Amino acid sequence: MSFPAERPRRLRRTLALRRLVRETRISAADLICPMFVREGGTSPVEIGSMPGQYQESLDSLVRSAHDAVDAGIGAVLLFGVPARKDSKGSEAWNSEGIVQRAIRRLRQEFGNDLVIIADNCLDEYTDHGHCGVLLADGSVDNDATIELYARAAVAQAHAGADVIAPSGMMDGQVAAIREGLDAAGFSDTAILAYSAKFASVMYGPFRDAADCAPKQGDRRGYQMDVANVRESVRETLLDIEEGADMVMVKPALTCLDVVARVRDITDLPLAAYCVSGEYAMLHAAATAGAFDLQAAVLESLTAIRRAGADLIITYDARQAARWLATSL
Ligand code: PBG
Repeated sequence: MSFPAERPRRLRRTLALRRLVRETRISAADLICPMFVREGGTSPVEIGSMPGQYQESLDSLVRSAHDAVDAGIGAVLLFGVPARKDSKGSEAWNSEGIVQRAIRRLRQEFGNDLVIIADNCLDEYTDHGHCGVLLADGSVDNDATIELYARAAVAQAHAGADVIAPSGMMDGQVAAIREGLDAAGFSDTAILAYSAKFASVMYGPFRDAADCAPKQGDRRGYQMDVANVRESVRETLLDIEEGADMVMVKPALTCLDVVARVRDITDLPLAAYCVSGEYAMLHAAATAGAFDLQAAVLESLTAIRRAGADLIITYDARQAARWLATSL
């Protein structure tokens, strides 16, 4: 009987050894915490399909942001839930719109100690729920929409956002926003492009959270087909050419191959968005006793980093940061 000379298990013998040779690490600074702020709210409202997540009021947003900063989180990503919606989504560029007010509050409260990322899209602001303005046939008018994204970006930058994150998947949106920002004197405001964003069922709970489900049709005419990976390379290269400072793949857990592929073609910071449905799945399974939530969340985040993401946008950010501080 011959025994193996190669024994990878030697390095798995103790927790201290495993920790020493671990290839992938996550820290709180890599995590980005999405937050919803609701206009007119006086107290936080829990989101039904995302237990533990809230539509914040301006005051509770500040408290949650303090919690995130205390936990060492890298950044917050803001979404607005406006009181008024119209066909163009004009609250998105109103200087008194809810996200602009939230950005100003956070900037005032934290100075430059908090990175503020503003999601840039129209679906939370349009009465029809699509990510842009509609043509007569119900499809989204790409070129009219990106002009509005640029206006919203300028309003967000003016309010104090460090980073604008266009999520609408319109062609040319990064270039339009870069041009708009530069023309308004915001050449230092960065762009995190949702480059490979798929038309995914995993956004279900988000549409509850931001009250933005399309009233008619779906988003397949602008978001990517889940069957495609080569197209994610094309989308990412276009965004980089147009001036993206960071790029993103979304969702995360169902797109680990996409994360790996995009990692191979760029050295820009790469984010992956672990979306609302992924959060809901992990939490529901843990609640049903399928596994321990902490172990499941940390394993998922590790897998996303291992696939090649530098940054992870996750609703578990604050909790995960606390777990990371105490786990080995
Ligand atoms: C669009 C937007 C969506 C999400 C982020 N930005 C919804 C969509 O595209 O339908 C989803 C995020 C999540 O599910 O956590 N503004």
